[in-house]
Amino acid sequence: MAEEKALLSVLRGEARKIPPLWLMRQAGRYLPEYRDVRATTKSFLDFCYSPKKAAEVTLQPIRRFHFDAAILFSDILVVPDAMGHRVSFESGAGPRLEPIETPQQAERLGKFNIEHLAPVFETIELVKSALPADVAFIGFCGAPFTVASYMIAGQGTPDQAPARLFAYRFPDAFAELIERVVEASIDYLARQIEAGVEVVQIFDSWAGVLPADEFMRWSAEPVRRIIAGVKARHPQTPVIAFVRGADAHLPMLTQTIGADAYGIDTALDPAWAVAQTAADIVLQGNLDPLALVAGGDALDREVDSILGAFKGRPHIFNLGHGILQQTPIENVERLVARVRRAGG
Ligand code: CP3
Repeated sequence: MAEEKALLSVLRGEARKIPPLWLMRQAGRYLPEYRDVRATTKSFLDFCYSPKKAAEVTLQPIRRFHFDAAILFSDILVVPDAMGHRVSFESGAGPRLEPIETPQQAERLGKFNIEHLAPVFETIELVKSALPADVAFIGFCGAPFTVASYMIAGQGTPDQAPARLFAYRFPDAFAELIERVVEASIDYLARQIEAGVEVVQIFDSWAGVLPADEFMRWSAEPVRRIIAGVKARHPQTPVIAFVRGADAHLPMLTQTIGADAYGIDTALDPAWAVAQTAADIVLQGNLDPLALVAGGDALDREVDSILGAFKGRPHIFNLGHGILQQTPIENVERLVARVRRAGG
């Protein structure tokens, strides 16, 4: 039998001398070959819904860097788009949706039409047939709080104030919206798994703005429900939860939400995360994306310190948030070489 993929073995709890490595947002604008393919489609969502192109850019970072995992090229906002809450991306300005300001507007959202996402499942099939045998394939969705915060504000904001205000003013309507995203996300991840991804990651990029009790209610609990729903259908598929800003909540998350691995962000001290979580908890992270932009000795130092902190633990090497557009390719090469000589 072929050897198990490194990422999958770590997700089962094995500590490896050389941790598997992939980077959040590894397909993207820092790659000239991405920019070339991207330039052939005007609208970003149309690009996400073009299976051949999306499959091609999913594979580009694998060809260049031979990461241990490919992550499906798509976006978290395809879920509201498939609810009829249409999303557009203005170049350089991020996502735009019709803002939701009242419970009545939230009620008018359509049912989640998973067939709208058929091109995403086709992308998965294309990638699957072309992926090297030792590379794992990750699907993903956004966590309900993060997705809902874009749905309500209609755009990115620094602190998700519109969604938080909506949640305080209209808790029942917000709970209903979160529940709809939970249900849609379970169906969406299950379909991704059926189409061929081997692991799924849930991105809660904005949970960190919430006070403790709101964090429990709007981040931890809905993410727990998604994981339980996915596991009910696909018990063997590992789930990674990336709750950016989880901070002191991390130990609680590892005891309650049932993920197979926990992504930690740049701000968290790896030594603290290791000390505060049980020895069998799998952690993923958490190089500062700016250290990767800086490169050189600073990058080497940060990489070594992360490798040292996680030594002996099941660990997946990653950034603490998405790769930045201005990242020099030679720095990514340097990172890959440094992580992979870790066992030597
Ligand atoms: O990781 C990967 O390589 C897979 C693809 C991926 C994208 N977005 C592609 C993308 C993934 C996993 C995401 C997740 C995502 N999308 C998140 C969660 C992770 C995080 O970074 O916090 C969020 C919050 C979004 C929503 C989103 N999509 C925003 C706010 C933006 C605009 C900001 C920006 O970087 O321009 C996007 C657009 C987007 N999604 C791009 C890419 C490559 C850039 C658009 C382009 O190439 O034209």
